[in-house]
Amino acid sequence: MNKAPDEGLYIVLISIHGLIRGHNLELGRDADTGGQTKYVVELARALAARPDVQRVDLLTRRVIDSKVDTDYAQPVEVIAPSAQIVRLACGPRRYLRKEVLWPHLFSFIDDALQHFRRVGRTPDLLHSHYADAGYVGARLAQLLGVPLVHTGHSLGRVKRQRLNESGLAPQSIERQYNITQRIEAEEIALGNAAMVVASTRQEVEEQYAQYENYHTQRMVTIPPGVDLERFHPPRRGWRAPPVAELVNRFLAAPRKPMILALSRPDHRKNITTLVRAYGENSALREAANLVIVPGNRDDIGVMDRGAREVLTDLLLLIDRYDLYGCVAYPKHHEAHDVPDLYRMAARSRGVFINPALTEPFGLTLIEAAASGLPIVATRDGGPIDIIGNCKNGVLIDPLDADAMSEALLDAIADRSRWLRWSRSGTRGARQHYSWEGHVKKYLRAVNKITGRRRGRRFPRVARSRLPSIDRLLVCDVDSTLLGDSEALEALLARLGDGRGKLGFGVATGRSLESTLKVLKQWTVPMPDLLITAVGSEIHYGHGMVEDQGWAQHIAHRWRPDALRQALRGTPGLKLQPKSEQRRFKVSYFIDPDKAPAVRAIQRELRQRDLHAKLIYSHEAYLDLLPMRASKGLAIRYLAMRWGIPPEAILVFGDSGNDEDMLSGNTLSVVVGNHTPELERLRGQHWVYFAEATHAWGILEGIEYYNFLGEPRAPEEQQEQESSQC
Ligand code: GLC
Ligand code: MG
Repeated sequence: MNKAPDEGLYIVLISIHGLIRGHNLELGRDADTGGQTKYVVELARALAARPDVQRVDLLTRRVIDSKVDTDYAQPVEVIAPSAQIVRLACGPRRYLRKEVLWPHLFSFIDDALQHFRRVGRTPDLLHSHYADAGYVGARLAQLLGVPLVHTGHSLGRVKRQRLNESGLAPQSIERQYNITQRIEAEEIALGNAAMVVASTRQEVEEQYAQYENYHTQRMVTIPPGVDLERFHPPRRGWRAPPVAELVNRFLAAPRKPMILALSRPDHRKNITTLVRAYGENSALREAANLVIVPGNRDDIGVMDRGAREVLTDLLLLIDRYDLYGCVAYPKHHEAHDVPDLYRMAARSRGVFINPALTEPFGLTLIEAAASGLPIVATRDGGPIDIIGNCKNGVLIDPLDADAMSEALLDAIADRSRWLRWSRSGTRGARQHYSWEGHVKKYLRAVNKITGRRRGRRFPRVARSRLPSIDRLLVCDVDSTLLGDSEALEALLARLGDGRGKLGFGVATGRSLESTLKVLKQWTVPMPDLLITAVGSEIHYGHGMVEDQGWAQHIAHRWRPDALRQALRGTPGLKLQPKSEQRRFKVSYFIDPDKAPAVRAIQRELRQRDLHAKLIYSHEAYLDLLPMRASKGLAIRYLAMRWGIPPEAILVFGDSGNDEDMLSGNTLSVVVGNHTPELERLRGQHWVYFAEATHAWGILEGIEYYNFLGEPRAPEEQQEQESSQC
């Protein structure tokens, strides 16, 4: 990274499923390697080239699979001086189609957090691409307090509608595409996004409009750019490129104008209608060759069903109309051949056609335009805008084969109009579809939401410091942090000194509301994280966002109604007031003289197949929590999620519900005023019993571990201790 740190925006793009790399993209290899993969790589580069952007990370899935190139297994790939692709784990190592990635998104989220931690900086902006990344982006945005930008690329509700219309049964749609989950992820992304980037107006007005979270005030239309260095008309001295050989070997008269179609072999792309249109119009067959480049293929027989069907139909139609010698359909081509294909077609005075049934954008159309090749395209979304801007061709009805062949013939026949279209296409591409123009508009819109310039529409978000901390202090609240105001004041003054890389959290039996209230009363500054209700809830101090991952994790086997039912009438137990009963916490007052032993209660519950963790504190409280919840487990979860090593965490407590967070590999301190339940921790490694009480005890513990200086590694400390005896 060659720019000074903190000099500009740190932007993170997320595009999970594709095979993405910085060179020779395998576009059209399968349904998941379409325009989106190219879009995100070019966007990353164009953003990184801007002086006000310091760093761009493009996060994607790491794939380690002998069926795909080893490039996709590299954890990091630098693609420009300030841009890199970062590959993170997401489920199994092998390549998977996007529809089956849903269960693995949580591991991607956790890996992303660790990545930000390694970078040592919280991003200024997250930009998710497609539904799965939208889900991940929404969660990360909440966890980090960072604004989210989302681009759908294609939308589940639109796809479902189209599949419905095609006659596919709802259950099959569900089974094949996991469409409900996708739509829900899109709703979550749209509900959380500070800005949604669409490519066309139609996308906003007809497609996004189908969503519950349709907020036009947050949507901007910025068409994607095209790489004008790669896509340009044939220049003086142009000679047939290597790919010409792959095309010309099919053709009897290779010099004729070339009708070029370039798309994945997908039903929606409607190539078969094009072949029929061409096959049935003898004048067109006489006037031009048809060149179809339907991705790459080795063996049609082993391709996925959609591709197999499309390619088989293509071959059958060629045979039926006897199109040998005038239709080319090369088997292989490389990404760098694509600009050459457009130039060959332009040079032949040919035309580009996109006959897709629907076309949300159609990147190939602006590539053709930039290459000086006129276009014939479907009357839908992208093409309407593109032909409107570039005035370089005509729109057609993709289902009307006759109209299609007439339009093609027409485009080739009129020489002076062909020239006009060709020139106006290159001009239009430069004017409307350069990446430079794209990122300029993009950053103008983004500056409003990142709060660099004061935007009226979006509130400035508070950001989490957790990715940049290198140590974390977690205090129990009652009788530890609070209780002695003089001590608290001294502690806050001490922490004030070193707060830069120090994270601060509280862990308490109180509810969130009552915690916030009591912290305010004692004028404690807002912690970075709050573990409340005895570890059954985690919130982040910026914006009070709940950690949903934790809630989902602990919900396992939790049946609070049955627990209450089972303990009804037990002597010595009385339910605490409603305010103390939480989603994951059932709390009683317990009278140890009258109640059965805690162990006996536990046994009784187990015999009824009820599972809860029983936590006894102050000889007065009994809390029932899910098996997976406790203050200590919450701290461990946080340590893992945010990548904080246990020896960089120092924990303080005074009573029974603190016990499990005081033991283990984290450093810990029991304050002098502790309750008898904690006596059993004496002698355990990394548990220091302070002499001083309340926050004085915290200060003593901080000095004991020299926690605000260079923290000592546990090993070193152990040696020192034993040499002291
Ligand atoms: C706090 C909570 C109470 C809980 C006790 C012990 O006082 O308010 O509900 O039982 O801590 O964890
Ligand atoms: Mg306490």
